[in-house]
Amino acid sequence: MASQLDSLRKLSLVVADTGDIDAVARWKPQDATTNPSLVLASAENPRSRQLVGEAVERAHGDAHAAAEWLFVLFGAEILKHIPGRVSTEVDARLSFDEEGSVRKARRFAALYEEMGIGRERVLIKLAATWEGIQAAQRLEREGIHCNMTLLFSFAQAVACAEAGVTLISPFVGRIYDWHKQARKVEDIPLAEDPGVASVVRIYNYYKKHGYKTQVMGASFRKTGQILALAGCDLLTIAPDLLEKLSASEAPVERKLSVEEAKKQSIQKIHLDEKAFRWEHNQDAMATDKLAEGIRRFDADARKLEKLVASLAAVAAPAK
Ligand code: E4P
Repeated sequence: MASQLDSLRKLSLVVADTGDIDAVARWKPQDATTNPSLVLASAENPRSRQLVGEAVERAHGDAHAAAEWLFVLFGAEILKHIPGRVSTEVDARLSFDEEGSVRKARRFAALYEEMGIGRERVLIKLAATWEGIQAAQRLEREGIHCNMTLLFSFAQAVACAEAGVTLISPFVGRIYDWHKQARKVEDIPLAEDPGVASVVRIYNYYKKHGYKTQVMGASFRKTGQILALAGCDLLTIAPDLLEKLSASEAPVERKLSVEEAKKQSIQKIHLDEKAFRWEHNQDAMATDKLAEGIRRFDADARKLEKLVASLAAVAAPAK
């Protein structure tokens, strides 16, 4: 009997959501996604000392440059174990800075190129703010492909599709977390899960209107949420949930398809900047979660810089 993971692989492209290189090697996904929190967790593992040391060395002791290198070195290491692409996230501090985001993305692309890794194997992750989306539109024209993250509202998804980005990562678990907390409940059944419903709505909208932007469900809390989206273009899954899916042989049914989406009556909408900001702001969950997500990724990026700075200080020659 096939495991649920094997069955799911026939319906969606399975991606590993981790900075843990051993986990990537074990699960052999097509693609992998990282974020500052995942890279921090891996960098803190003593097994990553060599990689952190290499980042410091390549940056000649400059802590800021070393942190940049660290993201790229983790990405490059991950790419040794997968045939597809790795996602590397732009500093959350640039979430409201279009120019700064473009510069940082180009810098990541250049560092990857320095390591012999082409743009086709990298997705630059940017927060799906208005500025992030505009930056992504420009980057895509330069052949730097983008993965829009911290995506919670339908308005964010519409704007990303209109910008022609390669891929979006609508978050399921963080939407579920917000609603659980708001309703003061321990769980929300799958049939009513607002995180799952958000991805279903976005997927159907994209497919109905023929947008080329791919949908990658992200941020899962339980396997049921993943299986409820079987058929989505891509699903990025943390190692603990990959483990659970591989341990079960229960059947997996397709839940999303282009054919079914096409049959639906869904109105196409256009959002300019004002309409985007208004529509996004109408969604209390999305405004809370986007703001919190930026703060959390920023906090972890700062911790990572401190970790690298402490090592850079050790590595720097005494004056
Ligand atoms: C992946 O791209 C996301 O960064 C990740 O799925 C977020 O997951 P979390 O909500 O568990 O942090």
